[in-house]
Amino acid sequence: MMRPLHWLALLVAILAMPVHAQEVGDPSAGRAFAFSVCAECHFVGEGQLEMPSFDAPPFAAVAADPAVTELGLRVFLQTPHDRMPNIILSQDETDNVIAYILSLRHSP
Ligand code: HEC
Repeated sequence: MMRPLHWLALLVAILAMPVHAQEVGDPSAGRAFAFSVCAECHFVGEGQLEMPSFDAPPFAAVAADPAVTELGLRVFLQTPHDRMPNIILSQDETDNVIAYILSLRHSP
């Protein structure tokens, strides 16, 4: 059951969708951001020395899932979720971290 706030967050996420969805975000800024904010729980990429303490999916696994899309990530990050804390990201941080996650899809 979704509370009204969830719908509002979803609407905001959709309205905030840029027109040129493919070109959005800076993957290297997203990588730095992920290392500082997300790495506590996720294995975010090569070079991460500390193993995350939380049972969260590695970003490479998220990227490898063909069902994962930019819109899906955007909605996930901007709507409340149960097991992952509701980290509030700015628009730029959201764009960058999504660009970074999706960039992992093309690397071996
Ligand atoms: C405190 C721990 C924690 C932090 C910090 C955290 N996450 Fe998560 N995250 C989780 C957990 C746990 C899950 C699994 C949630 C579930 O399955 O319901 C998850 C799931 C996800 C998923 C969904 C993966 C899927 O299977 O679809 C994405 C995307 C994600 N996190 C991105 C991020 C990003 C980006 C950041 C940094 C801005 C971040 N997370 C920070 C704990 C965390």
